[in-house]
Amino acid sequence: MSKVTVVGAGNVGATVANVLAHKDVVNEVVLLDIKGDFARGKALDSWQQAPIDYYSTKLKGTEDYKDTAGSDIVVITAGIPRKPGMSRDDLIATNAKIVNIVTKSIMEHSENPIIIVVSNPLDVMTYAAFKAAGLPASRVFGMAGILDTARYRAFLATALNVSPKDIQAVLMGGHGDTMVPLPRYTTVSGIPVTEMIGDDELNAIVERTKKGGGELVGLMGTSAWYAPGAAAAQMVETIVRDENRIFPCCAYLNGEYGINEMFLGVPVKLGKNGIEQILELQLNDDEKELLNTSAQHVRAVMDVFEGMDI
Ligand code: NAI
Ligand code: 2OP
Repeated sequence: MSKVTVVGAGNVGATVANVLAHKDVVNEVVLLDIKGDFARGKALDSWQQAPIDYYSTKLKGTEDYKDTAGSDIVVITAGIPRKPGMSRDDLIATNAKIVNIVTKSIMEHSENPIIIVVSNPLDVMTYAAFKAAGLPASRVFGMAGILDTARYRAFLATALNVSPKDIQAVLMGGHGDTMVPLPRYTTVSGIPVTEMIGDDELNAIVERTKKGGGELVGLMGTSAWYAPGAAAAQMVETIVRDENRIFPCCAYLNGEYGINEMFLGVPVKLGKNGIEQILELQLNDDEKELLNTSAQHVRAVMDVFEGMDI
């Protein structure tokens, strides 16, 4: 009997609500947007799909935070997306203010929600929500790693001509071009991927993954939504079902991997309390260096955020 609010009824938010409704694991999804009729329209459209696709999840669109009261989980997708030529970091000036106001408004109506941030620049927007919410770090985290690993897994599935279902992988670091896919932790049904693909082809896939978001912006003129929306919905499902699944998520690090007081992508166990555990992998020196470089990049964007008057 869970209630989930998705803030931002645009491409990603509407997809989160729609995919979640199809999973039929929560009682109600509230879709909130400053464009209230837009949210109402998306919710109504998704509800009218229920008799066809057989789900009972209620959907409500609104612009009024009172309708979010008592939410168990909140997914924040509000903000502007990337346009061609922009990096995720270019979005900070607009999205930091939006994430701040959205989080505070949510907290006025829900006592102890779990907050999943999607808005970019992801790692720093998760930090912004964490600061605005005043919740424990285990209850505020970001979606990026599931999407980034999905891209990596999809590219590998194409290259190997195998089902994407059988590819398991871990990816760490910030949600940007410095992210760190980890071939050493990538398997195809338990077989190390390095036994199935040559170094050059694997390196090309790693590089393509790092720029995976930009590739889609180039193709569509705005950023992706199907895979991002499905990824956030998967996080919600895992929490609601208390599955303790292990996913790469953007989590607050306080000493893990030698990194302090910042959000970064790491493998975590997700369950009913949010982040139940952060897993510390035994990275080799090269992997550690890549992770530290990524952390430095995120730290630089955090500094921009800290310098803003919010
Ligand atoms: P979109 O433009 O389609 O939707 C954003 C929605 O946010 C709009 O409907 C807008 O009206 C709403 N909004 C703006 N300010 C608001 C406020 N103060 N309160 C409530 N709603 C507000 O954008 P899209 O494609 O859905 O992307 C949303 C965000 O997600 C972007 O920042 C994008 O960069 C990010 N993103 C992050 C991903 C990740 O892996 N973490 C993947 C894909 C997108
Ligand atoms: C993505 O990776 C832009 O963060 C967005 O698709």
